[in-house]
Amino acid sequence: MAPATTSAATARRGTNADRKELVAWEDWYARQDYRKMPWHSARPSPWLVRAVRGQRFPPRTSVLDLGCGTGSNSLWLRRRGFAAAGIDISETAIAIASQRAHRAGLRVQFRTANAAALPFRSGTFGAALDNGCFHCLPIRLRQPYAREVARVLRPGSPFLLTWIPREVRSSLGPPHRPALAEVVSAFEPGFLFASVERGDAGSPDGWMVCGTPFARCTALLIRRMGRQPAPW
Ligand SMILES: C[S@@+](CC[C@H](N)C(=O)[O-])C[C@H]1O[C@@H](n2cnc3c(N)ncnc32)[C@H](O)[C@@H]1O
Repeated sequence: MAPATTSAATARRGTNADRKELVAWEDWYARQDYRKMPWHSARPSPWLVRAVRGQRFPPRTSVLDLGCGTGSNSLWLRRRGFAAAGIDISETAIAIASQRAHRAGLRVQFRTANAAALPFRSGTFGAALDNGCFHCLPIRLRQPYAREVARVLRPGSPFLLTWIPREVRSSLGPPHRPALAEVVSAFEPGFLFASVERGDAGSPDGWMVCGTPFARCTALLIRRMGRQPAPW
């Protein structure tokens, strides 16, 4: 496996915009107790739990959690017998996730990395999830991100993607909320869309962030067959 890309190394190589991005995420994690972070939940995301119970992920496969934060979803997947790995651009988030795994006696491979330049060989994983990372990306990173997720997944693998959609007007939350058409245009070359579901704000299927109800969209994508996805 290729060596992990540290966020410090990413920042050294990246553009000014990349550096600002990295510093902003580090600030979030350095500023407060992770349990008080707006998006933190000690529990796994309900839509991930449903996908796993519905056997959308092949049992015990290797799963990559993109923008894993402090690792609640990765830890839950490991407990369910998956070979879990999590990456995040924030070194602090990864340090906390690793400590949580250590305390729980769980082996999860947490690495600091930019989701748009993944430190894994092609075809490493049998499933992936993104719980609120893609919708945080600058628009210029959407396609590189989608290409990287397609590259590290084996053909036919599921990818569970959850985001806050464009029409949500709250001043809290990610700045570039994608419309469904933008998600489709970023991912369609490499994936088929098996399903897209919406949870309305305030309903049991919505997303509570920082005590505020948000609508969310969750898509189950399937990595297209063939060793190389179609050219973007
Ligand atoms: C809204 S938080 C969600 C965290 C976690 N998935 C959860 O559900 O608690 C978004 C996460 O994406 C990470 N992130 C943002 N841009 C990233 C990038 N380019 N590469 C990897 N991680 C990134 C942030 O550091 C942050 O931990």
